[in-house]
Amino acid sequence: MTPENLKSLTGIDLLPAHAPDVRYECVSCAQSFGLESLLYTCPKCKSLLRIVDKNFEALKSRSGEEWRRVFDLRRSLDVAGLKGIFLFHELILPHVPLSDIIYLGEGHTPLIKANGEMEEWMGVEFFVKNDGQNPSASFKDRGMASAISFLNNYIKNHETKGVLGICASTGDTSAAAALYLSYLPKTAVKSVVLLPKGKVTPQQLGQPLGSGATVIEVPGVFDDCMKIVEELAENYDVFLLNSKNPVRISGQKSFAFEVAQQMGWKTADVTVAVPIGNAGNVTAIMEGFLDLSRLGIIDGLPLILGVQSHHANPVSTWRETGEYKPMSVTPSVAQAAMIGNPVSFPKVRGLVENYFKERFKAVTVTEQEIMDSMLFGNRHGHVVCTQGGEAIAGLRRALSEKKIPATGRFVCDSTSHQLKFAGFQDDYFAGKLESGFGVTSKEELVNQPVGLSASAEAIAGHLHLRKRIKT
Ligand SMILES: Cc1ncc(COP(=O)(O)O)c(C=O)c1O
Ligand SMILES: [Zn+2]
Repeated sequence: MTPENLKSLTGIDLLPAHAPDVRYECVSCAQSFGLESLLYTCPKCKSLLRIVDKNFEALKSRSGEEWRRVFDLRRSLDVAGLKGIFLFHELILPHVPLSDIIYLGEGHTPLIKANGEMEEWMGVEFFVKNDGQNPSASFKDRGMASAISFLNNYIKNHETKGVLGICASTGDTSAAAALYLSYLPKTAVKSVVLLPKGKVTPQQLGQPLGSGATVIEVPGVFDDCMKIVEELAENYDVFLLNSKNPVRISGQKSFAFEVAQQMGWKTADVTVAVPIGNAGNVTAIMEGFLDLSRLGIIDGLPLILGVQSHHANPVSTWRETGEYKPMSVTPSVAQAAMIGNPVSFPKVRGLVENYFKERFKAVTVTEQEIMDSMLFGNRHGHVVCTQGGEAIAGLRRALSEKKIPATGRFVCDSTSHQLKFAGFQDDYFAGKLESGFGVTSKEELVNQPVGLSASAEAIAGHLHLRKRIKT
């Protein structure tokens, strides 16, 4: 459908007409800054920045009902620049013209209802949102689509001598960054990723290598890599692609927009379980629901359930005790969320204290629960990674501890694809997770290939098949 056709059918103009005033704003001192230079922290007080549209109020000229219709109708449009996460263009970097948007197929990931067996195991009906079905197989593509569209627009409007895109990563950020950067002209952009050696899966290591990025492995964990890229971003001319860069958070809000749309724009009765690592995702999800609530698009904020492993749970501990303490992490199968000092924690605190209040809960789960939940989920039609397993385990535990009510509707965020973390499944099946992670392999969840001779008879014998009686 063209916008013109749809306009003549519905009377609604579906192309963006909003005149935004997009700026960086400091989460501490509230000063705002124009977009003419690339910023990651407040030049005055060094706190985190967020992206704000100072003309957001103008969006209220449309009612919540009208916005719902615009976003629903846009799904049947085929307009470059209004696809994927940018279906919600007015709410994600609206200053970037449609012609500068980079779309590689991200967003609109499916919301899959758990089957009867799994719902019995969980105790409630629930859904899994499969963000592993993004181009680089994780939710990071949402924020990378916004960051690279922002950069594309920035390069066109500023004299740059070439940009070096850089990030630290637990594996998925680097895969997404390298993929999206590789789409921009090589003459304008180069891509570098910093990984903690041996702490990303082989699939995640192969992704940025395949996209042509310079991959630098350093000893330590993610927090060590993050310190280095923060120093580089502070002192050198590089474009930081970690979620500390608020243009990443802008795109990641689309997860919330899609959940709201998929739940019929009613979210007051919804609980969303989210695995937390660096806390960029949960920040973006809360900011996204807040945007929708301000515009009257949803009937109320959902309950956000942050989930962490007992090997890396500073946010969950903060929620329990009221005290935030960065911690040293120990190895976790939810490796991508294995972060002891989440960069976006100050944003989480602000969003919870000012808006979400009791609508934000957090829960700690064990490594055993994470593995068992992932494997159990994948035996029932899902394709969840260890972090998705963490979300599912968190929902189950929060329900059993009565931390959250068992009424309403439930969504688990599976942040990446099962295949990226296949090694953890292999090690569980081989009984190799005992030492580092304290995970015992449960017989009923273990599966191994069976070697038999290449004969129908041998296979039929192994399967105890009964021979059909010929009449
Ligand atoms: C698959 C996956 N799940 C969850 C997370 C945690 O997200 P965040 O760091 O935004 O809290 C990450 C981050 O690297 C990830 O790659
Ligand atoms: Zn400031």
